[in-house]
Parts: sequence; structure tokens; C-alpha cells
Amino acid sequence: MICRHFLTLNDLSGAELKQLIQRAIELKKMQHERVIFEPLKNRVLGMIFDKSSTRTRISFETGMAHFGGSSIFLSPRDTQLGRGEPIADSARVISRMVDCIMIRTHSHDNITQFAKNSQVPVINALTDDFHPCQLLADMQTFWEHRGDIQGKRIVWIGDGNNMCHSYINAACLLDFELVVACPEGYEPDALLVEKAGSRLTVLNDAKIAAKDADLVVTDVWASMGQEEEQKKRELAFNGYQVNEELMSLAASDALFMHCLPAHRGEEVSAGVIDHPDSVVWDEAENRLHAQKALLEFLLA
Ligand code: CP
Ligand code: NVA
Repeated sequence: MICRHFLTLNDLSGAELKQLIQRAIELKKMQHERVIFEPLKNRVLGMIFDKSSTRTRISFETGMAHFGGSSIFLSPRDTQLGRGEPIADSARVISRMVDCIMIRTHSHDNITQFAKNSQVPVINALTDDFHPCQLLADMQTFWEHRGDIQGKRIVWIGDGNNMCHSYINAACLLDFELVVACPEGYEPDALLVEKAGSRLTVLNDAKIAAKDADLVVTDVWASMGQEEEQKKRELAFNGYQVNEELMSLAASDALFMHCLPAHRGEEVSAGVIDHPDSVVWDEAENRLHAQKALLEFLLA
């Protein structure tokens, strides 16, 4: 059976991504008006989490409940996956029982291998390399506050990590200018940078990057799995905090986003994230609506 997976944003065309953003905005309005809409009645989402999560788990579980379906939380502690059952075998078995599988794991190869052996759509809920679900929410949030992102200047400050890679994919699909500022040695993947071409600039200076930004985005300096590098990274990322001074270099109406969880006093100052204009709480809520749009797109 041929089915569509969502392993990176590139599994969508630019037009499909825009359609999903608009659908997420509609679904959000319906949810706020308490409209009952159950296109996934009796459908089941399997959710495999090899790493911790607050937003991703709650948004997928709640989304499936709103849609009339259900979800199963699967952790390696309680499944045979955690005891070494091969990924391909697990994919064959689980996908004969559920209608869609969401995976948060370490290596991106794990999810690619899982998808190859799955009869049902597989959704990437974060790997070491990409976090496409978060980008659906971020792009929805930008659209709600500022309209079309095409041609806008988006500035990524910090680690060239999974979130940064997904921003690079989004820049190519939605045609915005992306400036990445990171310390030497923490740049995004060279192949992705090369493919992005002139849309992307990588700098080692946060202040130059922030100039005239329409959106400033950051993320933790040490991602899940990099906890033992925390101290080394705090030193390396000195000068890469998004604070009031850095935001003053951006456009006067610049938005600030962070996928959360955030570390105040490290990658972002409390003054920026807790400012009344901060859109990070909309961004977090939009995980729910954007993923409902994705589930409907893949399954309904
Ligand atoms: N932003 C995000 O993915 O949050 P969780 O790790 O809480 O799911
Ligand atoms: N880059 C972070 C994102 C968390 C949502 C991580 O991978 O831990």
C-alpha cells in the first residue's frame, strides 16, 4: 500500500504546506467555537516516544480525541522496541494494527527505516536532525500575526540543530530569507545549507544577523541527548542570547518564537520571552491545531 509519510517538511510541496497552515487556522476557529468535528472516528494513532515531551504528546493525544479517534502512548521502557526488537519488525507489526504512527526518536535513520516498513503514515515528532511538526505550528503562528511569510527576513540565533534544519526546509518551501547565526562548529548541516542556496545566509555574529529581522527564533543550546555538553555549550554560545538588546536591532514589529521548553537566562532573556507581545504561547497552542490539520491531511 502506498501511503504518505511526514518525515521532513519536504514530504509536502509548498502549496500543500500553505494549505495545511490555512486548514490549521480553520480548525483552531472551530475548536474555539466548540464545534464537534470527528473525521477520524475509530482511528488510532500509535505514539512512540524515545525522548521526553510535553507539547508533542499532549497535542497529538488531544487532537486525536477531538477528531473522535484515540491514541496509544508507547515508550521503549514498556515495549519490545526498548528490548531490541528490530525497527523493521516493529514497524510491520504496529502498522498492521494502528492507522498512523508518530515517532520521536534519536537518529533520523530510525524513522526512515520505520517508515519504509510501515503500511500506514509515519509522522516525525522530532529526531536529532528535524522537527517538522514544530514548523507547522511556527508557520501558522507567523501567518496569524503577520500574514504571508514569503520574502520576509527570518533570523535563527543559536544551534544549527533539528529546529534550525526544519527552518531551512521551510525557507525553501515558503520562499523566505533565512539568516542563521551560530558559533563556529555549531553550523547547520552543510548539505542542507548548500541546497538552500541564496535563500540562506550562515553567519557567526548574532548582532549582524538580527538586523531588520521580521522574526527572531531560538532554541536550547543543548538539545535532548546532549545534556553532558551543557557546560561546554554555555561557553560556546556566549553572545548568542536573544535579549532586549538583540531584539532592538530587529524590525520594530519583529516577532519572537521558541519551540519550548526554554531556559531563561541562557538562549533567551526573561524580558523577551515573557514580554506581553511574545507569541510563544500561541506557537505552543498551535501545535494542536497544526497537527490536527496534518492528521486530517494524511488520514481523512
Ligand atoms: N516543542 C516541543 O516539541 O515540545 P515538547 O518537547 O514538550 O514536545
Ligand atoms: N532542539 C530541541 C527541541 C526540543 C523541542 C531538542 O531536540 O531537544
